[in-house]
Amino acid sequence: MISQNIQINLPLLQEKEVVLYVKREDLLHPFISGNKFRKLKYNLAEAKKQKKEALLTFGGAYSNHILATAAAGKEFGFNTIGVIRGEELGANLQKTLTQNPTLRQAHAFGMEFLFVSRSDYQQKKESDFLAKLEHQYPNSYFVPEGGTNNLAIKGCEEILSEKDKEFTHVCCAMGTGGTVTGIINSSNIHQNILVFPALKGSWIQDEINSLQPNKENWKMVSDYHFGGYGKISDELITFINQFKEETSIPLDPIYTGKMMFGLLKMIVNHQFKKGSTILAIHTGGLQGIEGMNVLLKQKNKQIIL
Ligand SMILES: Cc1ncc(COP(=O)(O)O)c(C=O)c1O
Repeated sequence: MISQNIQINLPLLQEKEVVLYVKREDLLHPFISGNKFRKLKYNLAEAKKQKKEALLTFGGAYSNHILATAAAGKEFGFNTIGVIRGEELGANLQKTLTQNPTLRQAHAFGMEFLFVSRSDYQQKKESDFLAKLEHQYPNSYFVPEGGTNNLAIKGCEEILSEKDKEFTHVCCAMGTGGTVTGIINSSNIHQNILVFPALKGSWIQDEINSLQPNKENWKMVSDYHFGGYGKISDELITFINQFKEETSIPLDPIYTGKMMFGLLKMIVNHQFKKGSTILAIHTGGLQGIEGMNVLLKQKNKQIIL
């Protein structure tokens, strides 16, 4: 499946003589949106092949991946189990569902939750912890946090079309690194892949290396995480609202908003040669806006429009 590329027309781009397109992966599916669709595609086929009854995965309370897995389970005939970080959320499920739109929607899709403490959650890759879960939820297909595994990378290799390989630059937000690894793998060696981590930390470079991308045509742009995962600022929210007003393209505050903020700052700062053609991947995540707005309203801050 190929998503649409939309050209962005902003005075800045004309002034700097660069061309910018956004690849609307967010429009692939209302809930299995953006990179989630790519990451789940081959995993769902594998789960079917293994005759699994359920999909089990891991995530935070506002996770795009949790909601996408719940939606995929409903659409493709699997039960779903979400192992959610934060045992306090399980103390009063009704209250949690009232306050948290991501979990409310996942629950409506039929997802069963297992709320675990932060220390248990940290064991999400440990064999003892996984063995316990296998015992508790037999015949389940395990998908790692964020959905990244080799089959997810294979799916993300389908994001770029042949035509997209003519862009000089491709930009992508990063969490676990699976999406951008797929993009690097299928990119043209002459393209520059710019990776915008949504997290803070020097270990992030190693995350991508550990996924063994097949080329070295990528560079980390680490200045636009806004303090770390899930952290935001008034400036970021203002930017997201302004970008939507000017282009009609909504961005999420955790991944794509930070990437686009950083990309446009780089263009302002002359970090692209005249004649550069840039493709920014819209990896989705728009479901997270509602949850972020609940938190912003509680703090009396401007919300995402
Ligand atoms: C909307 C969105 N964009 C980008 C990413 C980053 O993807 P990855 O974890 O594969 O690096 C995520 C997380 O999965 C996401 O939800």
